[in-house]
Amino acid sequence: MSYYVTTPIYYVNGEPHLGHAYTTIAADVLARHMRQRGEDVFFLTGTDEHGEPVAQAAEALGITPRELGDRNAVRFKELAAALNATNDFFIRTTDPEHLEKVAEVVQRIHDNGHVFEGTYEGWFCPRCADFKTDSEIEEGNTCAIHRIPLEWRKEDNWFFRLSAFQEPLERLYAERPDFVVPQERFNEALSFIQSGLQDLSLSRSRLKWGVPVPWDQSQVVYVWIDALLNYYTALSYAREGEDLTDRFWPADLHLIGKDILKFHAVIWPAMLMAAEIEVPRQVGVHGFLLLGEHKMSKSLGNVIEPFEVVELYGADALRYYALREVRFGQDGEVSPEGFEKRYTTELANEYGNLASRTLAMVGRYRDGVVPDATPDPELVGDFEGLAETVSGLLDRVEPSLALDEIWQRVKRLNRYVQDEQPWQLAKDEGQAERLDEVLYSLAEGLRVVSVLLLAFMPASAERLLAALGNEDPDLGRARLGAAPGGATTSEPGQLFPRVEPTEVTAA
Ligand code: ME8
Ligand code: MG
Repeated sequence: MSYYVTTPIYYVNGEPHLGHAYTTIAADVLARHMRQRGEDVFFLTGTDEHGEPVAQAAEALGITPRELGDRNAVRFKELAAALNATNDFFIRTTDPEHLEKVAEVVQRIHDNGHVFEGTYEGWFCPRCADFKTDSEIEEGNTCAIHRIPLEWRKEDNWFFRLSAFQEPLERLYAERPDFVVPQERFNEALSFIQSGLQDLSLSRSRLKWGVPVPWDQSQVVYVWIDALLNYYTALSYAREGEDLTDRFWPADLHLIGKDILKFHAVIWPAMLMAAEIEVPRQVGVHGFLLLGEHKMSKSLGNVIEPFEVVELYGADALRYYALREVRFGQDGEVSPEGFEKRYTTELANEYGNLASRTLAMVGRYRDGVVPDATPDPELVGDFEGLAETVSGLLDRVEPSLALDEIWQRVKRLNRYVQDEQPWQLAKDEGQAERLDEVLYSLAEGLRVVSVLLLAFMPASAERLLAALGNEDPDLGRARLGAAPGGATTSEPGQLFPRVEPTEVTAA
């Protein structure tokens, strides 16, 4: 089966930060996990380079939007690489193939009778590139998201008859109770739909930076219409000489932050219906990472800067922390202190120590060969159904809960070492068989959690599996006892070495 997962395409009006890294990390965990399950995976990320937000940022810098796009798209590409993300393509909305395809789809929406000419008046946030409805306006006519003053705008432009899709959307939500997860966001989107949909301006007449409206070249396509279509257009040109649309469309999962729920859960499916294109299977919504009150002020030293963390601690540590610290779907605070704490107590002490102790004992007591035994019944129950549970949680877009399931077993194995005291067993020749069983169970437990951790912390888990002498990533074998003894182990080296703690904050 095919599995197509996407991140939002990020605006190039600023530098990438931890918030962007977050969605990319989560999407990569799902992509890697699905590949482990043998699915045919396509994972897309990229940059959103048109529209008001980018045009204004470029103007402020005295450069062209294209120059700004070129400069920052590279940074976002580097971020994906630094995070060890396995995206199959990186789309830029300035790609000529994307422009062409957007024009094609927009023309179809027009030809299907869903476009009309009108005048729009309203409060507009230039950072959101969006007209605001009453409920989205804060006191003093400010944007609820950006807290900047809104501008009163009046424009002649082309409209998409979004209001005509209220019923089809309500039907979609009735038929597909998991179209949006978690439930709270499903409810939010549905009540937005039920409260009545206003038509949406589909073009901008004052702006020059974008995709020209095919039947009216004096206007450009509204940046959100252009941006949302990336998920569809990318498949048509990501592989040269090949169109992947039939293979991967409809998308299985659009992962997004809650700030862009309305666009993905309301406008996007309506656009697709208007163009007679199948709607995606699911939109998965996460909360905000709260980066501290002064989140933009690096000098205050409370920013987790993803490039810097990765350089000092490795991508795995950041991937782990992001999904562990904040329950995916909810808002939560992150901090350098919190990061350091989890790095030391969980990664280095719990997982790292378990690994080095287990491998050292197999080395010392069994000459570096995992003994052949059956798993200790003591542990079997605690591991039963683990792989299925993790897969099930990831199917429900619950990476934090999945990671927690795995981590409970890491802790369980540490308790097992404490309880069984293999170094005591080693002193007594009469306990040789028992020691075989304990060491085999530990090696197996470590192998199982590492196979499951491959999606979350690919580099460390791979190293551990190599050290255990069994690199098979097959999830079907993520069961205690699935691998026989006899594997030759080796030293993995320090997986999570100590780092000077003050270095994590930005200069
Ligand atoms: O909205 N916490 O781009 P954008 C969690 N171009 N996630 C965060 C975050 C935070 N503090 N900050 C950013 C756009 N994100 C449009 C999208 S898609 C067709 C077009 C993540 O650069 C989160 O995924 O503002 C959020 O939805 C996205 O970055 C917004 O990125
Ligand atoms: Mg934004």
